[in-house]
Amino acid sequence: MISLLLLLELLPVVGALAIITSVYFKSLALKNVPGPSLTRFTKIPLLYQTIGLNRTRYIHELHRKYGPLVRLAPDEISINHPPSVGPLYNYERSHFYNAFEAFGAKNMFSTPDRAHHSVRRKHLGGEYTKVYMLRPENLSVIYDRVRQMIHTISDNSTVDVFYLFNYMAQDIISGFFFGNQYGSHLLQGQDTEVFHAWHMRRQTFHWFAELPNLTKLLYSSGIANFIPGWKEAAKGEQFINDMTRKWMDKCDPEKAHLLTKLMKETSLSRDEYSAEVMDHMGAGHETTGTTLTFLIDHLSKNPEQQQKLHQELLTVDLNDFAAVDKLPYLHGVVLETLRLYSSIPASEPRIVPSGGVTLLDKYTIPASTVISAQPYSMHRQEEYFERCLEFIPERWNEPPAKAKTAWMAFGKGTRGCIGQNIAMVSIKVAVGQLYKTFETRKPDVVPEKEDMDFKDYYMITPKADTCSVVFRMVGVDDGKKH
Ligand code: HEM
Ligand SMILES: *[C@@H]1O[C@H](CO)[C@@H](O)[C@H](O)[C@H]1NC(C)=O
Ligand SMILES: *[C@@H]1O[C@H](CO)[C@@H](O)[C@H](O)[C@H]1NC(C)=O
Ligand SMILES: *[C@@H]1O[C@H](CO)[C@@H](O)[C@H](O)[C@H]1NC(C)=O
Ligand SMILES: *[C@@H]1O[C@H](CO)[C@@H](O)[C@H](O)[C@H]1NC(C)=O
Repeated sequence: MISLLLLLELLPVVGALAIITSVYFKSLALKNVPGPSLTRFTKIPLLYQTIGLNRTRYIHELHRKYGPLVRLAPDEISINHPPSVGPLYNYERSHFYNAFEAFGAKNMFSTPDRAHHSVRRKHLGGEYTKVYMLRPENLSVIYDRVRQMIHTISDNSTVDVFYLFNYMAQDIISGFFFGNQYGSHLLQGQDTEVFHAWHMRRQTFHWFAELPNLTKLLYSSGIANFIPGWKEAAKGEQFINDMTRKWMDKCDPEKAHLLTKLMKETSLSRDEYSAEVMDHMGAGHETTGTTLTFLIDHLSKNPEQQQKLHQELLTVDLNDFAAVDKLPYLHGVVLETLRLYSSIPASEPRIVPSGGVTLLDKYTIPASTVISAQPYSMHRQEEYFERCLEFIPERWNEPPAKAKTAWMAFGKGTRGCIGQNIAMVSIKVAVGQLYKTFETRKPDVVPEKEDMDFKDYYMITPKADTCSVVFRMVGVDDGKKH
């Protein structure tokens, strides 16, 4: 945890570096873009808010104050104007994404390079399509793990669902990568330390994303050992690397599905394969785990919506996924969760290509400017989502075309989420099973440390990494093995 004290201590270092790196005279080109005047000259306010885990709220507030286009730094802007956002997401990713590298190698998420990217996307893309997910063999990977998850819950028990859903999501994506019997089995109590390791690792995430050279220097000089949390972050990373290698080495190469396919069809290095695996393990579990956590927390506080969902679920056989998929209220509940509790609410930066771009008919933005939109703000616009702060599943019954323009839960454009089908199927199956079988509520005494505000590490989690829910059995699940 980066304490305020630590931030203050490091401010001079961050400050000095920020001044050196970010006072570009060319940046005066953004002087006409609205924003705090300080941001014309320096990136310090943005860095301070980002590293202090307040970036998303800070940018949201700037949009409220300055409108749809704001300057964040001398060479960086944020946009919150849905009709303009689509085309920007064909631009290349900024250096921010280097922070997702692993084993010193690039992977699908991190690489800005089109050639690098398309090799990976081409060979894995097909396996992440909805058609593929809906094949019985594949659907059963998801149903299996959901069933295991349900079976760990007993009547009238209080459960930390944040752990539970992260375990489940990790086991699902692992099932697709390594084959059902290999890889992670967190729900069965194996390798659960990896969960803690992911959380330790993220403590330096923004540092690597925003100040990579300084952060590397702090590590190589040994200074990092004295910064609270940094030693643990490195240990967490090492642990995840070791686990990734262990899973890769242990699985049956003929049956490892996604991994096998990728290895058969490409000739990357061992580190590159490892980086790819680790990337999908990470991107694939936290997002889904967080989404399910906020969804169940919301329904536990809103019994009427929960009851409506339960009634709807009584009308289908959960083993029939095609029918589950068509349930309008379930669909609405999932989309509202993704809208208001986006597990990636944060800005997704791209680079303005050569030639620049004109935005909102009057702002000339030069090449190399970093530009981003953030789901958090895109999803909170009254013009696109009436009563935008309210959780209204029915709005998705017949969503206006406008809503689609502003929708960004899975990103946008060529680099949008490859895992969205696996995520949607997993979430719908899990929520279906949960609310057909159980009624949930918050405990009478919520643990003191619990805080369902979000921790802003680009991918978010509940602030205290915990969420308690009481389960009461109200039905039996549909039993039949998928
Ligand atoms: C609710 C669940 C999920 C959410 C909200 C989510 C969200 C996102 C978003 C917003 C992006 C674009 C990021 C950006 O441009 O900055 C993205 C990309 C990506 N996601 Fe997901 N994701 C989810 C589940 C998954 C799953 C299950 C996987 C499984 C492997 C996955 C793998 C990826 C990968 C590999 C990319 C990079 C794609 C590329 O660069 O071509 N995600 N995701
Ligand atoms: C985070 O940002 C919001 C919006 O700008 C602001 O009100 C709040 O004070 C900030 N929090 C911190 C700790 O800086
Ligand atoms: C759970 O609580 C309900 C209501 O208090 C009770 O009827 C039920 O028997 C309890 N179940 C178990 C397994 O104790
Ligand atoms: C998904 O289905 C395909 C085609 O039937 C099969 O080859 C593949 O092994 C399945 N994937 C998993 C993870 O079971
Ligand atoms: C970090 O250093 C490398 C050269 O070692 C340089 O190419 C890169 O631009 C630097 N990154 C930042 C964000 O300053």
